[in-house]
Amino acid sequence: RPIESFIRNLPKAELHLHIEGTLEPELMFRLAERNRITLPFASLDEVRAAYQFSDLQSFLDIYYQGMQVLIEEEDFYDLAIAYFERAHADQIRHCELFFDPQGHTERGIPFKTVISGLRRAQDEARERLGISSGLILCFLRHLSAESALATLEEALPYREWLLGVGLDSSESGHPPVKFEAVFERARQEGLLPVAHAGEEGPPSYIWEALDLLKVLRIDHGVRCLEDERLVARLAAEKVPLTVCPLSNVKLRVFDTMARHNLKELLRCELCVTVNSDDPAYFGGYLTENFLAVQRALGLGFTEIRQLADNGFRASFLGEREKGELL
Ligand code: ADE
Ligand code: ZN
Repeated sequence: RPIESFIRNLPKAELHLHIEGTLEPELMFRLAERNRITLPFASLDEVRAAYQFSDLQSFLDIYYQGMQVLIEEEDFYDLAIAYFERAHADQIRHCELFFDPQGHTERGIPFKTVISGLRRAQDEARERLGISSGLILCFLRHLSAESALATLEEALPYREWLLGVGLDSSESGHPPVKFEAVFERARQEGLLPVAHAGEEGPPSYIWEALDLLKVLRIDHGVRCLEDERLVARLAAEKVPLTVCPLSNVKLRVFDTMARHNLKELLRCELCVTVNSDDPAYFGGYLTENFLAVQRALGLGFTEIRQLADNGFRASFLGEREKGELL
């Protein structure tokens, strides 16, 4: 179909991608073997069978378990370069990657090991694949504010390798206010703030992310439609939402793709972008996310073009770089 080849060939930006969520079962097995780690799965099919989620937490349990095979700098490089190759095939020109340092430092892996491996893959992606990228350090919201602050301090020697800070993991019960101080400190360093909000959590978490963390984008944010005043504010201030359609269906935020509210978000004149979140776990990379919403919601060429352009507009690229890519 013409719209499918249009989607495949469209230059794209990706703004909501957890690099640890790109760990494919094949690489998980290879790294487990290389690092002599015993996986709780006997085969690739057993791994894939375990990827049946009922909500965000049921996914996170498997996600934190999967990342335990990442030990050496080379492992983080292998993970990230595999993503960049995949991104290249999807016509991605720019990406802003999340990483979860606490998922590694809590297991005794030095911060330097993590960021050095990722950085090496970023350099290669720029040189060899023509993909620009930035790193967004995410704080795990199920851990304490003190742990987040300690993580930021550990990261500051690598300040120049970081684009921003984010907030992810278990949303319910961990409102943004818990991380007000660490975001303040990160902003003082010039790090650009974003946060997951309104994925499973209520609209009040989106308000808090805006007012207390002063975020420049909302990751997910799909529950904003429950609050008319919030929608008006997001539209007036042009706050981008990084929406992840396949993720939302896999984690049961919406029962089916046909029930996804992306089209309503567009109708409310919100700056909606399409992203893949944790593609190795949710069954598709960026192009598949575009194809899935297009099919289920009957999006036209204009809407698809709008979504892809929004990805570049909502990115943290400079105005001149945006102009060159748009
Ligand atoms: N960590 C990885 N993916 C996530 C998501 N979709 N929501 C919250 N935390 C995450
Ligand atoms: Zn996410």
